[in-house]
Amino acid sequence: MKIAHSLAEYAALRSALDGPTAPRVAYVPTMGALHEGHRSLIKLAKTRGDMIVVSIFVNPLQFGPNEDYARYPRPLEDDLQVCAADGVDIVLVPSVTELYPAGRQVTVDAGALGSVLEGHSRPGHFNGVLTVVLKLFNIIRPQVAVFGEKDAQQLACIQRMVIDFNLAVEIVGAPIVREPDGLALSSRNVFLSASERAVARSLSAALEKAATQGSVRSARAAAYEVLDRAEAEPCFELDYATIVNPATFAEVPDDHVGLAVFVVAARVGGTRLIDNTTINFTPAPWG
Ligand code: PAF
Repeated sequence: MKIAHSLAEYAALRSALDGPTAPRVAYVPTMGALHEGHRSLIKLAKTRGDMIVVSIFVNPLQFGPNEDYARYPRPLEDDLQVCAADGVDIVLVPSVTELYPAGRQVTVDAGALGSVLEGHSRPGHFNGVLTVVLKLFNIIRPQVAVFGEKDAQQLACIQRMVIDFNLAVEIVGAPIVREPDGLALSSRNVFLSASERAVARSLSAALEKAATQGSVRSARAAAYEVLDRAEAEPCFELDYATIVNPATFAEVPDDHVGLAVFVVAARVGGTRLIDNTTINFTPAPWG
């Protein structure tokens, strides 16, 4: 496994791959603190490309002023071991100063899709994500890139950017990986105390209950039954729980039929958690 700490080092490794028998480069962008969720992205990437590139970069541009950029976990040595064990070919670990040199001005605007829900709670977040992902696509030059479906709105924004900017990168979504009790894996789970961890499980429990319902209205009611109980806990503060169109993230009406995504976000203790599930609402048999 090769490790590139600078863009020049990476460019040298990448240009050696060009030519008539060029391998298909499959890319997994990460912010490190790699867990089983990331490992599943790498595993999926290996089925889509011949050469696996992972980047590890905690992107300051996607954190708000009061968010956890400073305390975001950065266990680089462990991450490199995970990458080596999982058969990654190249890891890019760029510096903030190289990715964001003084004088930079231009950023990507995620539009309306990036300003609702996560984008509403975290203003500028998706502009920061899209800006770094576009830069990394240009640097890495992958044919395919894999993103986790846990960050469903992020995935939708990236898919939108690829269409709107005519990018020649195939985007692949990887299913959410969960703990045995249902909690979605996240690098932020390490911040949860034991009691917060138990309450955090309400998010996936609410989604599980919603997914067994036949209509948007009953799915919402079933989820809120669980979330209302969680809100009785002082450490739990619901941000949103809503059922949206998978491409636009606009709320679907009560009589919606077809695919929709139930997205939830909450603060548990000091930790912000998100989760989602895709539900296929079928027409009522008597309708
Ligand atoms: O999902 C993440 O880890 C980040 O948002 C990403 C895509 C690596 C961009 O910084």
